[in-house]
Amino acid sequence: MDDDNVLNTLIEFHKNNQWKNILNYKKNCPVINFDWAKLLWAWPDETSLYFIKRNCRKFKLKCVTSIGCGSGLFEYLLQQCTGLTVKGIEIDQKWWESLYSPYQFLNLSFTDIDVIPKISHETALMFCYFNDKSSFQEYVKNYSGNLVIIIGPGKDGDTVTNPTPFSPDFGETNTSWTLIDSQQISESKDFIAIYNRNS
Ligand SMILES: C[S@@+](CC[C@H](N)C(=O)[O-])C[C@H]1O[C@@H](n2cnc3c(N)ncnc32)[C@H](O)[C@@H]1O
Repeated sequence: MDDDNVLNTLIEFHKNNQWKNILNYKKNCPVINFDWAKLLWAWPDETSLYFIKRNCRKFKLKCVTSIGCGSGLFEYLLQQCTGLTVKGIEIDQKWWESLYSPYQFLNLSFTDIDVIPKISHETALMFCYFNDKSSFQEYVKNYSGNLVIIIGPGKDGDTVTNPTPFSPDFGETNTSWTLIDSQQISESKDFIAIYNRNS
């Protein structure tokens, strides 16, 4: 079996809405050394998806908006596993709609890199392996809600993101946000950190 077969298997699961099979397949994949980061940087398990749901529920939120969601695989798994409504935002619509773009697990919404949209207080704002500090700060500025979720490498991780889960720079509003919960994603080097706006 080669890399294309791995992707085709996952696409088949997605078409049949077998999200649990996607999570299980990663654990038992027959292809050794498959580069999972090609599809998704932080692979969740059910425990981590429910961790996000629990934190949303604390703030009576039923929606998550994920910025820079890529192919939307994390977001699809989160939505199907927990029942949260998940919206994924990307840039470069032309490329994502071109013949070269990767398979998409979620219907993506698009914005211009220079036009950061307003994000409603009725949603949590999520960044999974986001890599642009100034856009992150602009999104936070344009967000009227109270819950920011940051997913990325912990202190021992060998990958780089901005924001990082444990020392994000919120910019002007840096002092307005407090880390209220965090969890490691199974045995990986990745963490989910939950920030709440100070009242
Ligand atoms: C490292 S990838 C992470 C993709 C996915 N979240 C994952 O974990 O595999 C960062 C993504 O952020 C997107 N991105 C960069 N700037 C953005 C912006 N201002 N608004 C929305 N998405 C952006 C990029 O197109 C890219 O797909």
